[in-house]
Amino acid sequence: MSIQWYPGHMAKAKRQMIEKIKLIDVVIELVDARIPESSRNPLVDEISSGKPRILILNKVDMADDRVTISWAKKYEEQGYSVLKVNAQTGAGTKNIPDLVHRLTVDKRAKLENKGFNSRGDRALILGIPNVGKSTLINRLANKKIAKIGNRPGITTAQQWIKVGKTMELLDTPGILWPKFEDQSVGLKLAATGAIKDDLLDFQDVSVFLLKCLLLHYPHELSKRYNLNDLPQFEVEPTIDDIVTVLDDIGKRRGCMMSGGYIDYDRTAELIIREFRGEKLGKISLERPE
Ligand code: G4P
Repeated sequence: MSIQWYPGHMAKAKRQMIEKIKLIDVVIELVDARIPESSRNPLVDEISSGKPRILILNKVDMADDRVTISWAKKYEEQGYSVLKVNAQTGAGTKNIPDLVHRLTVDKRAKLENKGFNSRGDRALILGIPNVGKSTLINRLANKKIAKIGNRPGITTAQQWIKVGKTMELLDTPGILWPKFEDQSVGLKLAATGAIKDDLLDFQDVSVFLLKCLLLHYPHELSKRYNLNDLPQFEVEPTIDDIVTVLDDIGKRRGCMMSGGYIDYDRTAELIIREFRGEKLGKISLERPE
C-alpha cells in the first residue's frame, strides 16, 4: 500500500504527472474525507496548470457527516467543484461524468469552432496513496483495472476507459506523495493507514487519536470502551488525561503484561485498528476551523 518517497521518486512522479496532465481536460483530485487537508498533495495546484479541477472527498462513509459538509463548503468557497463520494459502494460517483462534462463546456466549444469533432471529456484521477484512487477507477470503469502497486515511475501503456456517454478516464491514476511538513500531518496519515505500519510508532499515533477522540468524540469513545465519567474537554486534553484513558482501555480490553502492567503497545494497536475498522463510528480527524 505505502511506499517511501525519495527525492528521485518525487521528481520522476512530477514529470510524469505533467505529461499526463497535458492529455486531459479535467483534474480529479481525490482526498480522504477524514483528513482532507492532510491528504492533499502540495503540488497539485502547480501541475494542474489552470485546468478545471474537481475535489473529491472520498471515504465519506467513514467521516463525520457534519465535518464533511463544512469541508465541502470551505473548498467550494475556494472555487473548487466538490463531490462527496464513497468509492467502495459507488455512492456519489454517478455525478462525476456530468460534472466533468459541465466543466469542459468551453473547451468543447473551442474545439468545435476550430472544426474538430468533439471527443470524450478526458480526466485523470490524482492523489496520494491510499485515498481510494484504484477503487474509484474500478468503480467508474465497472471492472477491475490492474493496480500498479502505487509505485511512482513505472511506465505502462496508457489507455482510456469510457465512463458513461461523455467521459474518458486515464486507466492509471496519478500517484503523488503526501505532505511531510509537520508531525500532525504524519500522525493523521498514520492513523488512517496511509503510511506503512512498520514505519510507525503505534503509541504516538494512539495518543494523537485519543486526543482527538477526547476532544471531539467523547461519547463514541466511552461507548466503545465502556468508560465512565469522561469529562467534556474545552481545550486539548493533557498527556496525563490521555494516559488515564489509555490505562482504562488497556485494563478493560485485557491488554496486560505480567506483573499487572498495561501493555501499551497492544492497547495502542487495538485503538488504531478499531478506529480504522470504523468500530468507533464516523470520525473526522481534522476540521476546517
Ligand atoms: P489508492 O489506489 O489511492 O492507493 O487506494 P485504494 O483504491 O487501494 O484504496 C485504499 C483502501 O481504501 C482500500 O482498502 C479500499 O477498499 C479503501 N477504500 C477506497 N475507497 C473507500 C471508500 O469510499 N470507503 C471506504 N470505507 N473504504 C474505501 P484496503 O483495506 O487497503 O484494501 P481492500 O481490503 O479493499 O482490498
